[in-house]
Formats: sequence, structure tokens, C-alpha cells
Amino acid sequence: MKIAIGNDHVGIELKAAILNHLKTKPNLEVIDCGTNSLERTDYPIYGKKVAKLVANQVADLGILICGTGVGITLAANKVPNIRAVVCSEPYTAKLSKEHNNTNILGLGSRVVGSNLALMIIDEWLAAKFEGGRHKKRIDMLEV
Ligand code: RB5
Repeated sequence: MKIAIGNDHVGIELKAAILNHLKTKPNLEVIDCGTNSLERTDYPIYGKKVAKLVANQVADLGILICGTGVGITLAANKVPNIRAVVCSEPYTAKLSKEHNNTNILGLGSRVVGSNLALMIIDEWLAAKFEGGRHKKRIDMLEV
């Protein structure tokens, strides 16, 4: 499985913890889309970069980080076939995959600590889309 990860300057520290965590998982390749600089930058750049990799099936899933997770997730959702969700607890993360087949997870580095973020990621990665009645609904999201 390939995971694309992207963040603005506020997400650098949390990304480091996430990269360390993902390293421990077998059969998982990470594509780091930056930023890796603390210089102030703009979250839409990285939100769209990751979203395009996922939409073009270069990556299977994406993880995005900014201060709240909101801006970078909004940017990703502008790309067709992207269903990005910002989560600050694991229940929504799990259900967002099972019911909404989310393909990008957004996290707020100013909202969640790293341990909680890793728990959210693990729940999200382990969850499987249930299909069935949910398939029709996610198809209806595309305009
Ligand atoms: C940057 O200060 C901040 O606005 C950004 O990281 C994010 O929280 C936007 O949604």
C-alpha cells in the first residue's frame, strides 16, 4: 500500500511522528509531498498535491496535516474522486472509511497530540469500506 502524506509548516512535527509510526508497518510505502521546511507556506499546495496522487492512483490513500486539518482537507476535496475527512477522534475516522470510503485523512497538529493522531490513523487504515447501500451514496457525491 502506498500512502501520500503532505502538510504545511504547522504540520512538520506531527508528520515526523507519523512517518516514524508508519515505518513500523509492513508493506507500506510513504510518498512525502512536503513541506519539510518551517518557512510559512500555503496548505492548498500540499492538499492538492496529495489529492492528485490519490485521484490518479499513484497512491492508495493520503494523510494531510495543517494547524486544524481543515484548510488542507478542504483543498483536497476540490479534486474529483477525493473524499477527505478531518478527524480528531478515531470513531469518525473508522466510520468515514466504512461508510464514506474516505481516501484522505486530515489531522490538525494544533488539535490532536501525536498519540491520539496515531490512534486515529490506525483505526482509519484498519477500517474497510462496507460498500452496499453506501456505494450509491458516495457515487452521488460526484457532480
Ligand atoms: C496556518 O497558520 C493555519 O492557518 C493552517 O495550518 C491551517 O490550520 C488552516 O486550516
